[in-house]
Amino acid sequence: MGKKILCVGLVCLDIISVVDKYPEEDTDTRCLSQRWQRGGNASNSCTILAQLGAPCAFMGSLATGHMANSFALDNFKLYNIDISHVITRSECSFPASVVIGNKTNGSRTILHSNSNLPDVTAQDFQKVDLSQYKWIHWEGRNAAEQVKMIQIVEEYNQTLQADQKITISVEIEKTREDLHQLFAHGDIVFVSKDLAQHFGFDSAPETLKGLYSRVRNGAYLICAWAEKGADAMGPDGVVIHSDAFPPDTIVDTLGAGDTFNASVIYALSTGKTMQEALTFGCQIAGRKCGVQGFDGFI
Ligand code: ADP
Ligand code: FRU
Repeated sequence: MGKKILCVGLVCLDIISVVDKYPEEDTDTRCLSQRWQRGGNASNSCTILAQLGAPCAFMGSLATGHMANSFALDNFKLYNIDISHVITRSECSFPASVVIGNKTNGSRTILHSNSNLPDVTAQDFQKVDLSQYKWIHWEGRNAAEQVKMIQIVEEYNQTLQADQKITISVEIEKTREDLHQLFAHGDIVFVSKDLAQHFGFDSAPETLKGLYSRVRNGAYLICAWAEKGADAMGPDGVVIHSDAFPPDTIVDTLGAGDTFNASVIYALSTGKTMQEALTFGCQIAGRKCGVQGFDGFI
């Protein structure tokens, strides 16, 4: 087996109710369907990478107990995702998100729980055998610890020839200020539409121009913008764009961004250009929006 892609971040339970009309407060209505599935950005991205045929591993914290076993561990195994770096913490609860998926407009509204599960630390990360990996992706969470993990990889990279180095990517999705330190790390930085709008930007190209000075020398900044597709900018300052590829009917947009990130990472890790990777990311993410969940569209 070739070298793997490691995704570091969250695994949680998503409790998803699909409705045809967003419920009004203090009403009692029936949903069209309900399902429970493994969620979390890094966890979802692994699901996509595995289906694209990339050997991959997930690193994150997990509570003990039935929910964690059946909705996380067993499901990771089903997709052949390596879980040897999962850190199990007893006396913690497994985080869950309540998701309302609106069938009429495709929107997804997410309510997270702030569980007492601590994120993986640089000390946990020290134990990873880096020689197994060609790419490591961090979903921005406990940023200060994640910077330390990235520094471990950077030191390791200094011992390697250019074509053997591990590529580092980070995703900055949430608007918390402590995550901003991640801009300066990573060969590839994914910034979300949410954070872009929080900064006051109205489009992906505007975001890239406004935020590019925060990334490190030579890095690419990538910004996906739902039905507008996605854009990227590298050190030459040229904005690269792909339109979105909307399905005939939008069924489920939960995890579209995680699907996009995984597909871009996969394409770049197999030697594709940034333009090809953006287009591929939008194609696969568009297809995902046309189905429920993460199966049967790749
Ligand atoms: P998320 O909100 O999950 O982070 P984004 O809105 O950033 O995801 O979208 C990621 C990618 O998914 C977009 O670049 C696009 O290619 C695809 N996508 C998302 N929503 C739609 C949509 N409504 N129609 C077509 N493609 C979409
Ligand atoms: C989708 C997702 C869900 C999870 C939430 C956590 O991108 O990862 O699976 O509930 O976001 O932020």
